[in-house]
Amino acid sequence: MFELKEKTAIVTGGGSGIGTAIAQRLRKAGANVVIADITDETADKAKEWGCEFIKTDASRPEEIKSLCDAVVKKHGKLDIMINNAGIASGRPLSESDEVQSEKYWRLHILGVQTGIKEAAARMTDGGAIVNISSITAIQGFLNWGEYAATKAGIISLTRTAAIEYGKAKIRVNCIAPGIIETPMAMKEAPDMVARNANLFAPLGRIGTPDELAAAVHFMASDDASYITGQVLLVDGGWSVGTSVQAIELAIGTM
Ligand SMILES: NC(=O)c1ccc[n+]([C@@H]2O[C@H](COP(=O)([O-])OP(=O)(O)OC[C@H]3O[C@@H](n4cnc5c(N)ncnc54)[C@H](O)[C@@H]3O)[C@@H](O)[C@H]2O)c1
Repeated sequence: MFELKEKTAIVTGGGSGIGTAIAQRLRKAGANVVIADITDETADKAKEWGCEFIKTDASRPEEIKSLCDAVVKKHGKLDIMINNAGIASGRPLSESDEVQSEKYWRLHILGVQTGIKEAAARMTDGGAIVNISSITAIQGFLNWGEYAATKAGIISLTRTAAIEYGKAKIRVNCIAPGIIETPMAMKEAPDMVARNANLFAPLGRIGTPDELAAAVHFMASDDASYITGQVLLVDGGWSVGTSVQAIELAIGTM
């Protein structure tokens, strides 16, 4: 079950957090895993995890293209593409500017769009593409407007790609994390982030990168063979409604 032997996978942004958990999990399931990250430090870590590393800026279409070419040259094929690389820093829309907005667009929209296009072009016998969006794409999130808009675009790309590549037996799905304990989420105010998750997620806690990787693994495997174009929220239930903790706090019983 969830077997990935003889599959070849690319994980963008695999040098940290969720991407690392995904890369390690796919590797354990038997896949050849190529981590594509912008940081040089990832090279040694990838080797330690039994993965390969190709330094890639996933916001640059020409680098994604040469990444996919290099993987197919070495492994003869590409079966799984995980478009995970992301950047984030929250601020109100009143402080937004085109420099930062364009960075989000280049990585989350152009990067994912190119990742889908270049990977699918090399998936000669079907394949699975999993894009990482965010709960902020599903519901309004204070101070996350610039970021969230591009994460919503990833859902749109996923749905169109599922239609366009269905005939080629390529499934395209999306995982939308809630708050997951990674360097990205914890870099600014870790206590506040954890308290928010404890309060707003019905499960009453922050998520782990491994919990996210489990969902990605399922979507990438043949066990998800009839699922395409879908968005799976891995958010401790945050998006479905107000948690008991929040209600109790609001009415003063906590
Ligand atoms: N952690 C959360 O709570 C959370 C919530 C919702 C969505 N996400 C999404 O999950 C994904 C992973 O986030 P994370 O929390 O693991 O973050 P992280 O910062 O821990 O890891 C991100 C990785 O992406 C790499 N990266 C950044 N820019 C890149 C580029 N241009 N090209 C290649 N690699 C690049 C970084 O070097 C890093 O290794 C992101 O897309 C993020 O938006 C995270």
